[in-house]
Amino acid sequence: MDSARPHERPTAFDRMLTPVHRWIWSDTDRRVQKLLRFGETETDGGRDILRAAEITSDPLLRRLYLEHAIDEFRHGVLFRHRAAELLKVSASRSSPGFHGDWLAPGGHGLDDLQVDGESDKNMLAFLHLSEKAAASRFTVYRDVMQHDPPTRAVFEEILHDETFHMNYTLMQLARVEPKRHRRHLWWARLSRLLKAYLRLATGLGGILGSMLLTIQYFILLPPFAWLAKRAAHRERSGWTMVSHGHSDSLDRQY
Ligand SMILES: [Fe+2]
Ligand SMILES: [Fe+2]
Repeated sequence: MDSARPHERPTAFDRMLTPVHRWIWSDTDRRVQKLLRFGETETDGGRDILRAAEITSDPLLRRLYLEHAIDEFRHGVLFRHRAAELLKVSASRSSPGFHGDWLAPGGHGLDDLQVDGESDKNMLAFLHLSEKAAASRFTVYRDVMQHDPPTRAVFEEILHDETFHMNYTLMQLARVEPKRHRRHLWWARLSRLLKAYLRLATGLGGILGSMLLTIQYFILLPPFAWLAKRAAHRERSGWTMVSHGHSDSLDRQY
């Protein structure tokens, strides 16, 4: 697909996080993991858009959705192939460490997409914002990838399609809802903001939870361990005779 307009400029927020993205993408193992995850996101998104093509009653949208879905499947293949190439030269096969998924997520947020029951206008508003976010992030990812020209070329190629997706969805939204398309965009924006907040809160919650458990382990547990050891020292070793009064319970059930 050809893009109708120049590439989307990254948002101020994505630009601000450029040093973080540079650090996240600098490690080869982390890059492999992220590319594999991006591949999954693109393929899942393509599947959802294929479903949207099945249920829409608008023939033009059906054709555009089909082409869009094919693009997303191709993006998934491009990401996976690049990850496989990197794996061949990478020393270790997996990295269980920090991947920064909530800081550098896959482009679209298409994983939030609920296709069934959505009207064309809601679908187009959601897709437009998702593609816009993808174009913004992929621009930053491409720019921080100077040390890896083949991966940079993958982002460059995908960015070209994402920009087209961003533009056609906006044009089609204006066609199916000429008067109220801006209102639909604002509602979709609010919904995305809420989901982004929940994602961020989940990420921060995970980090804070780990910190609290570590603090508890090193500060709260040692006194209990010391008390348990002291009690163990006071216990006599071996069998201990029980005094006469304490054996009454053997005569009855309780
Ligand atoms: Fe894509
Ligand atoms: Fe896309």
